[in-house]
Amino acid sequence: MTNAFEIDRREGLSKKEFYNSYVKKSLPVVLTDKGEWVWSDKFSTDYLKSHYNHLTRTVNGKSYSLSEIIELCKKSTKENKAPYPNIYDVKRDFPELLNEIPELLYGKSNRLQSKMLPRFIAKYTNKRELFFGGKDCSFPTLHIDYLGVHTQLTQIIGDKDFYLYSPDQSACFYPDKIRRNQSPVNIFDPDLEKYPLFKNAVAIKTTLKPGETLFIPAGWWHTTYIHNFNLTYAIDHVNSFNWNFFMDEYYLSAKKNYPKLASLVKVYKVIMGKIFNAKEAILN
Ligand SMILES: [Fe+2]
Repeated sequence: MTNAFEIDRREGLSKKEFYNSYVKKSLPVVLTDKGEWVWSDKFSTDYLKSHYNHLTRTVNGKSYSLSEIIELCKKSTKENKAPYPNIYDVKRDFPELLNEIPELLYGKSNRLQSKMLPRFIAKYTNKRELFFGGKDCSFPTLHIDYLGVHTQLTQIIGDKDFYLYSPDQSACFYPDKIRRNQSPVNIFDPDLEKYPLFKNAVAIKTTLKPGETLFIPAGWWHTTYIHNFNLTYAIDHVNSFNWNFFMDEYYLSAKKNYPKLASLVKVYKVIMGKIFNAKEAILN
């Protein structure tokens, strides 16, 4: 296991304080008082099973209905783990639940939700997702969220451990040469002969409980561990603080796939960055 210390847990955090103390400084934080909505009946497993059992999910080549996923996650053991991960797009799969989930402190400044951002640029980010999990399931890899997005996760059912590592520790995780946001290190059983620098890594560890929201700033390495039946909501964010990071990552991917058009991404980054800044200055 890894060296770890605790994260800030804040109640009554204003939007301004959230920006100044955490977003601007690229520091994670747990918001303990913003998730009353998770206790709505609409997020109970009975409601989800009875209204959305038509949904199917394929995990490791096998197809499961939503009821099967929920029951397998409830029965999951160390020896017989539930299929994982089980990710559902809220807008596509549970459109009626969209209005139940409030925007948190970012409000109108999430550029991924803006009509001014072309859909093909936002395509590979997570707009709004629900994840189910069971005892002893863990996210497969230590990773940075794709395209330099911030992530905000709200725990709905169960407890989930998060392990977060600051971006300046990247060398300890031996990032994959091609998929630079993925690490081969298993933090729960690290091979220190193969990855000796990992012993220097220091994590922030927190256990997220129902109704609590974790903010993970862009570029932070992270993974999770689950101790019981779990349902989590996640949303990605791009705002003025990670706009350049996001567009630079998108540029690298565009350069690989559409080399002739990639230079336009740089122009778009500068022009739209200014337009978004001006719009948000009025809105906020
Ligand atoms: Fe992630």
